[in-house]
Amino acid sequence: MMRSHAVLDSPAAQQPEWPDPCALRDVVDELAGQPPLVSPRECDRLLAKLASVAAGEAFLIQGGDCAETFAEAVPATYGGKVRVLRQMAGVLGASMRLPVVTVGRIAGQYGKPRSSATETRGGTVLPSYRGDAVNGMDFSAQERTPDPRRLLQAYRAASDTLMWLRDFAGEEFFTSHEALLLPYEMGLSRTDFLTGRRFGSSGHMLWIGERTRSLDGAHVEFAAGVCNPIGVKLGPTASPADVLALIERLDPDRQPGRITLITRMSAGKIRDVLPPLVEEVTANAPAVTWVCDPMHGNTFSSPSGYKTRRFDDVLDEVVGFFEVHRALGTHPGGLHLELSGEAVTECVGGSLPVTMESLGQRYETACDPRLNRDQALELAVAVGKLTRS
Ligand code: PEP
Ligand code: CO
Repeated sequence: MMRSHAVLDSPAAQQPEWPDPCALRDVVDELAGQPPLVSPRECDRLLAKLASVAAGEAFLIQGGDCAETFAEAVPATYGGKVRVLRQMAGVLGASMRLPVVTVGRIAGQYGKPRSSATETRGGTVLPSYRGDAVNGMDFSAQERTPDPRRLLQAYRAASDTLMWLRDFAGEEFFTSHEALLLPYEMGLSRTDFLTGRRFGSSGHMLWIGERTRSLDGAHVEFAAGVCNPIGVKLGPTASPADVLALIERLDPDRQPGRITLITRMSAGKIRDVLPPLVEEVTANAPAVTWVCDPMHGNTFSSPSGYKTRRFDDVLDEVVGFFEVHRALGTHPGGLHLELSGEAVTECVGGSLPVTMESLGQRYETACDPRLNRDQALELAVAVGKLTRS
């Protein structure tokens, strides 16, 4: 109770302007009456695996869509992603001779932070698309108005996806998403009847985004109150003091596996900005897991206006990440990727290259550009070689 008041009393960044607070409250109550999507025992199992990553005894591959959509919450789509993640795990596990933990950006990645609250087209200003859990992508007032009933649709899509994942991928596949939409996360937080601990039942691992990691903000307050493994995205402006304060707040007991620091610095900056963070954190909190997100620092617009990323920049940021950890004697714990199981054309490069001109052929992402299946496997092979040399 105390916790949820503290979350509600803290400033919450990146929340939609829900037009009807009563309707939102009804939805939160309805979510609170639903079965949990994941169990605390499953979360603990992932925590133990992440502790082995932090100890240098395993590697993490986390990936999936930037933004999942309800229309694509079908086995053909998430099955393709699970397959790519597993193939990458096979390649990297063999090269590194380490067990690989696979975690999907799956069954919950339905809400997005946006750099601008509104979008303007031809003089019309409407709320930005914030993910299927909030509003629709079509540029009309009706679609773009946030609708809290969509949070229930998100729950159902996640529930269907998880049912299938449990059947197809079994116990060793875990889910994760950005814990962005606080009504959804709070509606799905539960007390574990066996231990009395609070846990987020919306996914095994929850992460806090680069735009919502303010120390006194509601997202950090929420994450501090649940016992799931927690990820924190760190962009190039994160200072060692910021990171240590977040660790202190989220993991005062320094529980191995609890904190995964997901750095997204850009290929150009990682070699300069990562070393001081790793040095300070290692001195104060040695059991955190370091993961490289080589996607979010490397986005730009193509001449024809597609948001894209270069395969070579993605690979270069990963190479820089490994170089820094190798130089400091710390463990490069894993990769966090936006990828599709299909032959989409959203990132340029790769050995069956997607070109600036061919981006339009299959540009299907609802938000950021993803590696396609071939690019994802090529990355795994390249990183595998790197770790062998
Ligand atoms: C994301 O992972 O899609 C995202 C928005 O990342 P970040 O918070 O690192 O910008
Ligand atoms: Co993204």
